[in-house]
Amino acid sequence: MKIVIVGASGTMGTYLSNAFAKEHEIVRIDRKSPEIQVDITSPASIENMYKQIGAFDALICTAGPTYVGPWKNLHADTFRIGVEGKMMGQINLVLIGQNYINPKGSFTLITGALAHEPQKNFANASAANAAVEGFVRGAAIELEHGIRINAVSPTVIEASPQYFPFFPGEIPVTMKQLEFGFRKSVFGASTGQIIKP
Ligand SMILES: NC(=O)c1ccc[n+]([C@@H]2O[C@H](COP(=O)([O-])OP(=O)(O)OC[C@H]3O[C@@H](n4cnc5c(N)ncnc54)[C@H](OP(=O)(O)O)[C@@H]3O)[C@@H](O)[C@H]2O)c1
Repeated sequence: MKIVIVGASGTMGTYLSNAFAKEHEIVRIDRKSPEIQVDITSPASIENMYKQIGAFDALICTAGPTYVGPWKNLHADTFRIGVEGKMMGQINLVLIGQNYINPKGSFTLITGALAHEPQKNFANASAANAAVEGFVRGAAIELEHGIRINAVSPTVIEASPQYFPFFPGEIPVTMKQLEFGFRKSVFGASTGQIIKP
């Protein structure tokens, strides 16, 4: 299977790229990747990325920039980081990518438990996550040619200890649990699902 991973240089993306590369062709993409780059905040950049990739079977997105910080600094400008990044960036990956993905292909987007379990400093991510999850449910009944779409929604992951203080009482998701959440979406049959690893 040819799997595109957007956000491949990040914490999740690096782990998933290495895990899936044992069995599949992985196209690793982020803003600075050596061969093909994308800035998901730009529809033109997304279109250009797909033109370079050609046909593919699955897209995983683990790129989802949001504003993280004190509530007093969350205003119209900082809020746009999540709107144009995690929300519209991922939505445009699907709206544009549906014209390039193979029949019966799949899109797997990244959200997070913050959609339903808010924590201080993360209101922008809570909003973007919830928007993406609504889009996943809506898109699942519209996409044609057997194309599926799901989101993976973990709480804080074990490889991000810098976030542990912001998630009191949360048991971190292991990287294996995260991997199997993505496996369920990419290799299973479900669509329109929010997968909580
Ligand atoms: N880490 C956690 O505990 C956790 C838990 C739940 C949910 N999440 C969510 O999961 C996602 C990934 O988390 P992570 O910890 O793996 O993040 P990360 O380590 O910061 O990695 C982010 C990746 O996205 C790329 N990226 C950032 N902005 C981009 C843009 N505009 N266009 C294209 N690529 C872009 C980055 O590469 P470049 O900067 O080089 O482009 C990098 O490859 C985030 O949305 C986060 O909210 C994280």
